[in-house]
Amino acid sequence: MNCNIAVIKGDGIGPEVVTEAMKVLDAVGKKYGHTFNYEQLLMGGCSIDKYGDPLTDETVAIAKSKDAVLLGSIGGNTQTSPWYKLPPEKRPEAGLLKIRKELGLFANLRPAYLYPELKEACPLKESVAERGFDMMIMRELTGGLYFGDRYTKEVDGVMTAVDTLTYNENEIRRIAIKGFDIAMKRRKKVTLVDKANVLDSSRLWRKVTEEVAKDYPEVTYETMLVDNAAMQLVKDPAQFDVMLTENMFGDILSDEASMITGSIGMLSSASLNETKFGLYEPSGGSAPDIAGQNIANPIATILSAVMMLRYTFDLDKEAEAIENAVKKVLEEGYRTIDIAKPGEPQVKCDEMGTLIAERV
Ligand code: IPM
Ligand code: MG
Repeated sequence: MNCNIAVIKGDGIGPEVVTEAMKVLDAVGKKYGHTFNYEQLLMGGCSIDKYGDPLTDETVAIAKSKDAVLLGSIGGNTQTSPWYKLPPEKRPEAGLLKIRKELGLFANLRPAYLYPELKEACPLKESVAERGFDMMIMRELTGGLYFGDRYTKEVDGVMTAVDTLTYNENEIRRIAIKGFDIAMKRRKKVTLVDKANVLDSSRLWRKVTEEVAKDYPEVTYETMLVDNAAMQLVKDPAQFDVMLTENMFGDILSDEASMITGSIGMLSSASLNETKFGLYEPSGGSAPDIAGQNIANPIATILSAVMMLRYTFDLDKEAEAIENAVKKVLEEGYRTIDIAKPGEPQVKCDEMGTLIAERV
């Protein structure tokens, strides 16, 4: 198979971790007879430096012409980087929001899974970590507060800022359907997380999701308020299978879920539209504090490439080969700094990539 991939290494640790994911993909290609054609594009701070724009229309057009996008991370230190002196619409994050919107990537899948080998990295009580967990956060990605009208202005002499949270039923229905479809392939449970005791938008989410649930009689459907969900994630994460939620709740809860796996460096993500096209990126950020030191954990990005093989290219066998290789290196005791216990030997970012590639 010929796979055409736009590669956006981005800023911070992005270039380091994406390079390792490409190494692993090439190892799979060699073994199973596929060719991965990469075209490297700029987005985020590096694009600001070159074009004065975090994402040019030309870059969007090239990305659209490919089968998938493999992304590292974008952005820098918000306190010190000159990128954050620019107006908001010219900052690195604006590039990320623009590519999500332009490519219609409304469904963001963020799996959070506790590897048995990493139980000790899990910050929760042993009795909770013992039970393990395996959930999929389905975050709506192109609506809500992130894309509603916003402004800051003086109202009656008082500075006032407004952000608008809007959803229509179609936006809710399409992601709810994706959530239930994915639940059917997993443990068949969907938890809708909302704030329906306060927000109208949440009440619409409940109404529409309940309708969708009727088409999936095999799936257990429940609702949970977002503040409670934040508590339940640390109290009993094993209860969750698919967690379906709107954009901002999903942003926050997916970071919380990643932390209980032991490291944000382990978590992949996929952002999908209605076709096979997808954008695949690690859940963690650009980590400017450790950039360029070759100590980042490339596993999240490698697992994002796994999601790409599965969701865009339907290469399940190949995806599994990488997953098994990751499990193997962990079983063999190789650890990057973020997941190493005190005193445990540590491998560098590029060594981790090579170890996984060798085991594919
Ligand atoms: C994420 C990030 C982004 C988001 C930021 C960088 C805009 O936190 O992908 O979770 O909030 O969506
Ligand atoms: Mg986030």
